[in-house]
Amino acid sequence: MTNDDHTNAPATEQDLRDDMVRELIEKGALRSPGVVAAFRKVPRHLVACGVEMAKCYSVEEPLITKTDSSGVHISSVSAPRIQAIQIEQADIQPGMNVLEIGSGGVNAVYLAELVGERGNVVTVDIDPEVAQRAKGFIKDTGYRNVTIICDDGGNGAIDHQPFDRIIVTVQAADIPSSWLHQLTTEGRLVVPLRMRGMTRTIAFVRDDHRLISDGVELCGFVPMQGAGQNRMQVVLIHDVPGEEVGLRLDGHPEPDTKALAAALRTPRTEAWSGVMLAGDESNEHLDLWLTTALDNLPLMAAEPAARERGLVASASPLGVPTLVDGDSFAYRTVRRTGDPDRFELGALGHGPRGQQVAERLAAEMRTWDREHRGDRAHIEVYPAGTPDDQLPAGRVIDRQHSRVTISWP
Ligand SMILES: C[S@@+](CC[C@H](N)C(=O)[O-])C[C@H]1O[C@@H](n2cnc3c(N)ncnc32)[C@H](O)[C@@H]1O
Repeated sequence: MTNDDHTNAPATEQDLRDDMVRELIEKGALRSPGVVAAFRKVPRHLVACGVEMAKCYSVEEPLITKTDSSGVHISSVSAPRIQAIQIEQADIQPGMNVLEIGSGGVNAVYLAELVGERGNVVTVDIDPEVAQRAKGFIKDTGYRNVTIICDDGGNGAIDHQPFDRIIVTVQAADIPSSWLHQLTTEGRLVVPLRMRGMTRTIAFVRDDHRLISDGVELCGFVPMQGAGQNRMQVVLIHDVPGEEVGLRLDGHPEPDTKALAAALRTPRTEAWSGVMLAGDESNEHLDLWLTTALDNLPLMAAEPAARERGLVASASPLGVPTLVDGDSFAYRTVRRTGDPDRFELGALGHGPRGQQVAERLAAEMRTWDREHRGDRAHIEVYPAGTPDDQLPAGRVIDRQHSRVTISWP
């Protein structure tokens, strides 16, 4: 029976798992038979005592388990869709030795299913409470091939290396050398990497001293704690409580917030690109292209109330790419067309040169459409200190331990 059967019987946990799996397959997140079987089997609801069972099997819903004093979520059991995407990216095979950084229990148990009795999973969390809860879940579900460690996962897990796979389940701004060095020669690292404010879970394959991308997917994750902590700076350009509008900076120049706050109070101008998106088409590749092409493109984040008041036309929680130029700025938007399945990309500008800035952003959208639509970003990671002439052409993001390059075919 599934939830589509119109009987009065409540859904059993197996019904809920089957429905979850069917939806994950439909969304393209689950593909491999082994991963499908693991998702069909693991009783993930046992991780969350007191939470309604159906919620634990809702494909898009993370279970938030900890929030810091500033209201930022710092621990969760990731949503099934995100777990499925990362596990598929990791290409886990029986007998492998796998490291998970950031524990919750559920993902580690999926990994344990996939590596089987001949394989091992090590899961590391910096937070003792989380490690303890993960331990309880793993015990309750009866998996013996999982080791739980409470430590800073930025160091990997030196006593258990080398790993065929490392899966990082917390947002990272940098790639510490331990992750590369603790991988086998052709090992894979899957990591939600933040690049100029945009986080993508990337499957990397090790190639000697560098990592080469083999799959890039949109995602959202809680931020890293410990030595690798690197939160984005948020500057407000509208600071009325409850309807704040801010810019998230990730290596971008410090903006003139007073001038931009004044700009936001001026009427907006519009520039339309003529580039169409289908109703179900994501902006994710365009956004990564824009941040590669334009120097000063932080993300604008706004409270829903700011949108309701008409201050901004978008309040996406992931942030909206926003081109800043001195006292003016413009952000990416879409508008409806006569066809309900086609939306036109454009930019909304504010400030003395808002129209020009919006036109520049729209021009880059046309370049993306002409030259890179359908392309996927190619991302490589090199150790910090690698000379420029040994890097591929493209945008370079410098972090403490690594140099990340983004290029397009
Ligand atoms: C999204 S949760 C992990 C979810 C988990 N993999 C699951 O089963 O769905 C991210 C976790 O990363 C942990 N974390 C943050 N920084 C860390 C670090 N430097 N080393 C290890 N764990 C870290 C947090 O405590 C949090 O529990």
